[in-house]
Amino acid sequence: METNDRDLGSNGMSAAGPPQGANSAPAGGSAAAKPQAWGDHPSTAGRRWVYPAIVVVLLLVIAAMAWKFIVAGSTAPAADGRVAVMLAPAERALVLGEMRGFVAGVERIVDAASRDDMQALAAAARTMGGARMHDAPVAMMGKLPLPFKKLAFGVHRGFDALAAEAEGGGTPKQSLAALAGILQQCVACHAAYALGTPASE
Ligand code: HEC
Repeated sequence: METNDRDLGSNGMSAAGPPQGANSAPAGGSAAAKPQAWGDHPSTAGRRWVYPAIVVVLLLVIAAMAWKFIVAGSTAPAADGRVAVMLAPAERALVLGEMRGFVAGVERIVDAASRDDMQALAAAARTMGGARMHDAPVAMMGKLPLPFKKLAFGVHRGFDALAAEAEGGGTPKQSLAALAGILQQCVACHAAYALGTPASE
């Protein structure tokens, strides 16, 4: 019994001993506990920075992707000094088909103007207006550089304005003057841009 008590006592002591000792060390020296708290602080602050840092990195990645998709597009230098917009063969065919549609539409506008047929003129201009832009696939839009898109939108908006003017009592001469303004944008874009196909496609 005595030995048991002693054992229990010594067990109790030894069981309570280490925690007490461990507790007493930081409690005894509050100055010693402080460095520990200071030591914890930077690591907690460091962890607090991890999430904002991840958010910033992700935002930068998104910004870079947006810049590539909206502003830069997919381009390469063309042999003749222009900038080649790199499109897949089907996208290139879509763009060139639209271009040939432009020439056909311009022919109809000039023909209608020569006959004073403002209704036919407006109808021809509408076929080349902004409604056509919805046909452009999103993936292809991402390959077009911003100045290219601006010129393309400018041409489509120009044809819409031309149609509105012709429907609203405009004269053939006014329509031809507006057409000349649009054709300047055709010329500007052709001077700056060509089309190319990536070697992989
Ligand atoms: C935003 C730029 C842009 C605008 C605006 C533009 N084009 Fe083009 N067009 C091009 C590019 C790029 C090509 C391909 C040229 C190349 O690869 O050398 C092209 C090619 C063409 C072709 C050749 C089609 C073929 O099958 O090869 C015609 C015709 C044409 N454009 C007419 C026009 C007319 C008319 C307008 C204005 C009403 C116009 N384009 C406006 C960029 C534009």
